Amino acid sequence: MRSVRHVVLVGLMGSGKSTIGRRLAGAMNVPFVDTDTAVEAVSGRGIREIFAEDGEIVFRDLESRVLRDALSMETPSVIATGGGAVLRDVNRNLLAGHHVVWLRAEPTLLASRVGRQANKASGHRPLIDDDPLGRLTAMSVERRPLYESVSTIVVDVDDRSPDEIVGACRRAIAGSEA
Ligand code: S3P
Repeated sequence: MRSVRHVVLVGLMGSGKSTIGRRLAGAMNVPFVDTDTAVEAVSGRGIREIFAEDGEIVFRDLESRVLRDALSMETPSVIATGGGAVLRDVNRNLLAGHHVVWLRAEPTLLASRVGRQANKASGHRPLIDDDPLGRLTAMSVERRPLYESVSTIVVDVDDRSPDEIVGACRRAIAGSEA
């Protein structure tokens, strides 16, 4: 068992990883890191620009790098990942030994949250621009087994408020530390 055990949030776009992560970190009084924000900081570009100029592979390389850096921090932290961080096995292997919380949600809920931005081709989610519900449904099929394989905690987010979700995360984390 590694000495520093971070809390890592995984799940599809729109499942609330950044919002819940920030609140959870505040409630636990630990630092918060968002890997999408970190990718933008290290590259000096927005995620949409990285995809448009260099393509997904370059984005995924940057994502792997910032995830590895975040997980190597010595202060226990809450880390929100991008929805596709689980696609690479090197990333999945890095998550072993940490609290990995899967914020599980139905694609219809996710599309209702993130679809408006996608329809305007704005924001940091270029992969769903053309068809938010269709793309999220396909991603859900592809990624569910991956989220399942890495997660130590599963929290269903449909029909629950942020406070309830943060509470559920905290109880589950405390329970798995006992
Ligand atoms: C992606 C999710 C996005 C962002 C990028 C790719 C994905 O992050 O990393 O657009 O492949 O699911 P969020 O999950 O924070 O929206």
